[in-house]
Amino acid sequence: MRPTEIGTVDSVIGNSISIRMQDAYLSNMPVIDGVVYRIGQIGSFVKIPLGYAQLYGIVTEVGASAIPEAMLELAKTDPSLIQGNRWLKAVLVGEQVGNRFERGVMRSPTTGDAVHLVSIEDLKIVYGVERDENDTSSIVIGNISASESLDARIDLNKLISRHCALLGSTGSGKSNAVTVLLRSIAQQKFPSARILIIDPHGEYGDALADMAKVFKIGAIGSETELEIPYWALPFDELISIFPGNLNDGQKDYIREKVYNMKLANLKNYSGVRSQSISVDSPIPFSIKQLWFDLDNFERLTFESNRTTPTTLLKAGNADKLQPNEYPVCGIGSAAPFANNARKGILSFLDGMRSRILDPRFSFLFNGANYSPTLEGAVATDIDQLFQNWFCHDKIASIIDLSGVPSQIMQTISGVLLKTVYDALFWAQKTKVGGKSQPLLVVLEEAHNYLKSGEESSSSRILQTIAKEGRKYGVGLLLVTQRPSELDETVLSQCGTMIALRMNNAKDRSHISGAMQDDLQTMADILSSLRTGEAIVTGEAVKIPSRIKIFRAPYSPKSSDPIVSEQWSQPKPDGTDYTVVVRNWRNQSFN
Ligand SMILES: Nc1ncnc2c1ncn2[C@@H]1O[C@H](COP(=O)(O)OP(=O)(O)OP(=O)(O)O)[C@@H](O)[C@H]1O
Ligand SMILES: [Mg+2]
Repeated sequence: MRPTEIGTVDSVIGNSISIRMQDAYLSNMPVIDGVVYRIGQIGSFVKIPLGYAQLYGIVTEVGASAIPEAMLELAKTDPSLIQGNRWLKAVLVGEQVGNRFERGVMRSPTTGDAVHLVSIEDLKIVYGVERDENDTSSIVIGNISASESLDARIDLNKLISRHCALLGSTGSGKSNAVTVLLRSIAQQKFPSARILIIDPHGEYGDALADMAKVFKIGAIGSETELEIPYWALPFDELISIFPGNLNDGQKDYIREKVYNMKLANLKNYSGVRSQSISVDSPIPFSIKQLWFDLDNFERLTFESNRTTPTTLLKAGNADKLQPNEYPVCGIGSAAPFANNARKGILSFLDGMRSRILDPRFSFLFNGANYSPTLEGAVATDIDQLFQNWFCHDKIASIIDLSGVPSQIMQTISGVLLKTVYDALFWAQKTKVGGKSQPLLVVLEEAHNYLKSGEESSSSRILQTIAKEGRKYGVGLLLVTQRPSELDETVLSQCGTMIALRMNNAKDRSHISGAMQDDLQTMADILSSLRTGEAIVTGEAVKIPSRIKIFRAPYSPKSSDPIVSEQWSQPKPDGTDYTVVVRNWRNQSFN
């Protein structure tokens, strides 16, 4: 018997095999060629030689639960069948022929076949250590836990084109993993890499300072002011930014008005055909003028002939969003008369007005570069916006949303992603299209934008990207600590899953639900992973692996405070609270 042989195949059901371990194999930790091996670790590998090929399996169950059911049945009459034996259950995951390891198995073992443990040399083949020198498609993000000398590689092509979910409880090392991943992409020197990081807490600016440009509301230093022009949004998304509800008739009425304004402004854009224009086309129009016109129509009153408008008491100002004032309606059948055609949207218009004036929304409605005049003329068109975002010498653009109140963060991210996605959709046949220059969107706290069962602009656009992004070269990296709150269809669209420690059983079961069927038991070990340790499954890895992610050289700002150290410092006096309140009022950290 070869020293690596640990047992024999006892039953085979589909991809799952039960292994009866050798009676003689008493030691759990045999030493072979000076290396100590551990047998029967969940997530470890076993090997079954089959002619010139070797099949590889991952151990998913150990002990009594791994005994095949048929065997348990037989053992009722003859207990000796299972006595004194130890059992493993494994799932076949790949096949090695010569020095090549391939995912998936073409043949299956049969009962009585010998099962071996997997040596370091075997692992080198499985993980492709001797890979082609020209291979630039895989990036290293850590080590294989079973053997620290082996690199944990992931395939960049698959990672981006098939989306990826990065899951883990708070403090399990998600932000660190994102940093390591992006740094490792940067190290490979891809001059055209295009990565957009939606960073709700402003964690990444420092950690990725050398490789990313930061866009922020209330920018300071080397940061750039974040602006998104409202007129580039589809009508439904635009209208959803305003509080208050409209019925279908009222919405159609406003839609028509916006359409006409966009059509009228077409004169500024030669080469655009009027019959191609819809209400969703990114043509500048003045939202202030729109508000003013709509408001005016609601307030208008008429003389006793019911056709001549009354004389204005006070003229309003569209630019300042001040309404026109008319003489109030008479009582009963006395003039002036109200406008019978009015739509009853005054309270909606009030909400609209306060949003447009809200300084927190000025990145949308009052930006310095893209806000149209009342006539609809803009200083800068949005091609410049995309150039700012993507044509710089760094590989990533961080959209830092830390200055934005959390209740509107979702809207902003949705709006932003929608704008980018629409641009890439129309870029299809150009050099900046997603197929020629793929885009990776990193979304921290993804559960906030993609709540299951919630209809919001951000969840709509993310669902679209998850479903269709691949066709236009847009990949998602969804980072979340609450996978159970994440929309399930989107999670299942993620071809690769990097699962860090997960303490909550509900979240774990969600992850196992999204894993390949026969590997689901592996999710049980998620609660006992160390910080920075992860189980990676899916298309971007050759084989489901337990890995230890590197520690990033500059940690994201989210790093845990060292409480004992901080509390040992002299106590600050209270003057900083004055700064706190000023920042709070200014909605800015400057
Ligand atoms: N691979 C690693 N090796 C060693 N330490 C790590 C590793 N990953 C993370 N840490 C440490 O763990 C702490 C938390 O990491 P991180 O901020 O990445 O967690 P997180 O999952 O993003 O948490 P949150 O959900 O709160 O954002 C940090 O102090 C970090 O230094
Ligand atoms: Mg984090």
